[in-house]
Amino acid sequence: MTDKQIKEKVKNMSIEDKVLLLTQYPSYLPGDTEVVTGGSVYGLTVDELRKTGSTLNTSCGEETARLRRDKAENGNGEPFAIMHDVIHGYRTIYPVPLALACSFDTNIIEQCAKMAALEAKSDGVDVTFSPMVDLARDARWGRVMESAGEDQLLGGEVGKAFIRGYHEGGLACCIKHYAAYGAAEAGKEYNTTEVSEHTLREYYLKGYQACMDEKPELFMSSFNALNGKPTLAHRKLMVDILRDEWGFDGVLISDYSSVYEMITHGYCKDKKEAALVAIKAKLDVEMSSTCYKEYLPELIADGKVSETELDEAVERFIRLTDKIGLYENPMGSMNFEKRDKIVLSKEHREIARKAAQESCVLLKNNGVLPLEKSVNAVYVGPFADEKGIIGTWACHGKNDEAVSIKDGIEALIGRKIKTAKGVSHSLDEANLDGIDEAVKTACGADVIVACIGEYQDNSGEAHSRSDIKIPWAQRKLVKELHKLGKPIVLVVFGGRPQVLCDIEPYASAILYVWQPGTEGGNAIANLLYGEAVPCGKAAMSFPMSSGQCPIYYNRFSTGRPNEKKAPIYASGYDDIPTVPFYPFGYGLSYTEFEYSDLKLSSAEMKKYGKITASVKVKNVGKRGGVEIVQWYIHDRFASRIRPIKELKGYERIFLKSGEERTVTFDITDDKLAFWTDNNVFESESGSFELFVGTNSRDTLKADFELA
Ligand code: NOJ
Repeated sequence: MTDKQIKEKVKNMSIEDKVLLLTQYPSYLPGDTEVVTGGSVYGLTVDELRKTGSTLNTSCGEETARLRRDKAENGNGEPFAIMHDVIHGYRTIYPVPLALACSFDTNIIEQCAKMAALEAKSDGVDVTFSPMVDLARDARWGRVMESAGEDQLLGGEVGKAFIRGYHEGGLACCIKHYAAYGAAEAGKEYNTTEVSEHTLREYYLKGYQACMDEKPELFMSSFNALNGKPTLAHRKLMVDILRDEWGFDGVLISDYSSVYEMITHGYCKDKKEAALVAIKAKLDVEMSSTCYKEYLPELIADGKVSETELDEAVERFIRLTDKIGLYENPMGSMNFEKRDKIVLSKEHREIARKAAQESCVLLKNNGVLPLEKSVNAVYVGPFADEKGIIGTWACHGKNDEAVSIKDGIEALIGRKIKTAKGVSHSLDEANLDGIDEAVKTACGADVIVACIGEYQDNSGEAHSRSDIKIPWAQRKLVKELHKLGKPIVLVVFGGRPQVLCDIEPYASAILYVWQPGTEGGNAIANLLYGEAVPCGKAAMSFPMSSGQCPIYYNRFSTGRPNEKKAPIYASGYDDIPTVPFYPFGYGLSYTEFEYSDLKLSSAEMKKYGKITASVKVKNVGKRGGVEIVQWYIHDRFASRIRPIKELKGYERIFLKSGEERTVTFDITDDKLAFWTDNNVFESESGSFELFVGTNSRDTLKADFELA
């Protein structure tokens, strides 16, 4: 439709139809034949539901088809957009986004997102509520699993790769949660955030803004209060920055009942005021509450809102629906034959497996890995034979379609393995009765592989933890196993970095596998037995204790810097060092890479000029492997203090054993610019440090000046 046609269409709609179009309700379909529950669902009658423009999270394509048919027969002629939380796969589930970010491989992320889009699209989904690009610095927060971790550059790159993939697969997508939802105080879900404009601009907004390059169709506002107001009450954020500065002209949707929640926040006195605040923020679609539907007509009649404001929102929504193709074909693009062919297909499982292999992070290895296939390895722990490894946001993925570690190992080595659970994965498990049997099972082994960690339901939305150690019963299991005097390999599951320092001494190797998805067991088997070489790098720092959170590599020096257990009057703690247990960007391989000869084309850079850095990277181990070369910069003195290191670029390279490559990196003005005291992004002349290395801690350094 042309803009003119859309405007014409909106002119002919009643106010009631307009507000219903902008109301999004979860779908309700109790029986096979009955389409919606009778009477009133949360304040909407069946007839009103039939006039809403979109719904979310339908149970399957067949339900979508029935809803759409019902609407076509009984509604007002408007199509029905289906939006869904397709977060890391639709039916074939790939690793959680935080894990994917550890691959630093935007190519595989794009392939994953495309695969999810193809599956979802063929099942009738039009829009995914993904990617989530909230910066996450506090591992206690449950939703870190859905983020790309603590770095804003990586976060933006991962977000963009997701969008490209969704678009290739024909799915529209939604950037969320705007803004700073990840800054929840104490990592507590839905909690208040307090973030200065400087910190917003420098860190929290960058990922969302980067995503604008790939033209996302929607943005979702976040639940949190920010600096004393719900985010929707920040006109500057919603209109001045998002719409005017970044030029976003797509649909802004609220999070689930968050318009209504402005009342519970203590900001709006009632639904009418909430509707007013939201429309002034240019919010288009209200998800799961009815403030618009109930009060926009009245606000227009009162003259507090102009009909033009409502019309603009309706136009944006219709433009989206038209782009999706629903005016042409109200039944959407569902194709069940195609769906049944592609979901869980060999090709899709292959992508999910490759993604899982690249996402796992090898945190320790004293040489026990990779295992020989002939070795007598016994698998113990609650995850040795567990299929609940796909994550809380696993959409239509099913645990029983996942490959457990046991399945994966047996398929790879071609014989049965011994497993023993020992204890359950419950966070507060106190029953240790199974430990004896696990120890007995393990006593004849050459190597013990302990599969431990956090269950999928203990991260994700509304699953924050105050203590992120490995659950006590599992730590006890590892300690008892250690008494056997055999090498122990820890395979650790989790939707967040967990505190590992107290069990690390018992382990000869640690492979952190996150929530690896449908193909998890096959990927882990390949990594353990050396069919694949680990290459993932931690996208979030692993804290030494829960009390270290939030912890992130791009921190400030403070006036009294210190990395160890604090000498008196230095910044730190009396009981632990200030540095993380494993830093951002950390991850081992089965080979080793040596960095040397860091050079700059010049030690002086002209304003808006360019200098080029180069470094030699050599694979000095016995196997080929992928290395992620990481470039960091530090601006030594500035009008606002700058982080001690900030990732400015990275490159994934494959090197054969013995191969050396010179890797280059261009330093340009935009890499030195920051949100200065003038409240703009600009560079300031002075001294800089450039670092390059295999992680954010172990780096080579060179100095340069910006004239
Ligand atoms: C609430 C979550 O915060 C958001 O990410 C999700 O997309 C919506 N619910 C819809 O399920």
